[in-house]
Amino acid sequence: MPRRIQNSEFRIQNSKGLFVTFEGIEGCGKTTQATLLAKWLKSRGHRVIVTREPGGTPIAEKIRKVLLDSKNHSMAPLTELLLLQASRAQHLAQVIIPALKAGKIVICDRFADSSTAYQGYGRGMALEMVKQLNQIAVDGCWPRLTLVFDLPVEKGFARAAKRKRALDRMEQQQIAFHRKVRRGFLAIAKADPARVKVLDGSFPPDVIQAAVRQLVSVRLK
Ligand SMILES: Nc1ncnc2c1ncn2[C@@H]1O[C@H](COP(=O)(O)OP(=O)(O)OP(=O)(O)O)[C@@H](O)[C@H]1O
Ligand SMILES: [Mg+2]
Repeated sequence: MPRRIQNSEFRIQNSKGLFVTFEGIEGCGKTTQATLLAKWLKSRGHRVIVTREPGGTPIAEKIRKVLLDSKNHSMAPLTELLLLQASRAQHLAQVIIPALKAGKIVICDRFADSSTAYQGYGRGMALEMVKQLNQIAVDGCWPRLTLVFDLPVEKGFARAAKRKRALDRMEQQQIAFHRKVRRGFLAIAKADPARVKVLDGSFPPDVIQAAVRQLVSVRLK
């Protein structure tokens, strides 16, 4: 099992880069904040990569297409969860772990907490099973900091609607589903307050960004 050896090595060596993930419902501001943070960190001389899930590598982006294709309405919840974890395993092996080992800051737009929020809280799959599969895929490489941008679902939808593209398979879910997802993110933060911080996503982008920089700065070596 070469990947396990690689990851246990990684845990021992986890002294270099910084792994930060951004989470929250659609339209809460993850991409906006990730872009602003990366620009700021680069201007301060840090080596930064911004990546996203599902996706982030050619193989994982192919899995993303399957996951988000609105034609795939017959996808079983377990298929969805396993595809997400497959995409995550590939993303970690090919992008995240090599970047962290090279001392880079990795900003990831969605990660394992999205599986807990969407598949666990949203779809109602057993939280213990989602947790176990997250643990298998993440294999010890948890982010040092996770920021949840919290926003009422209606506000997130109104913002996302401005993008003027067809809704993907997840976005097409009912509002009640997205409310459960939002509650899921808040529950995740409550359960792991050292790693997961909640920021109010309804403030202007620059106000939120100031809080983001503050939280990241104290974790920079
Ligand atoms: N704090 C904010 N206040 C008002 N509008 C915002 C704020 N942050 C982002 N926006 C706008 O809302 C829209 C959605 O933001 P963004 O794409 O960053 O969200 P997201 O969380 O990445 O969404 P998705 O999950 O769908 O990718 C964009 O048009 C963006 O310019
Ligand atoms: Mg986005």
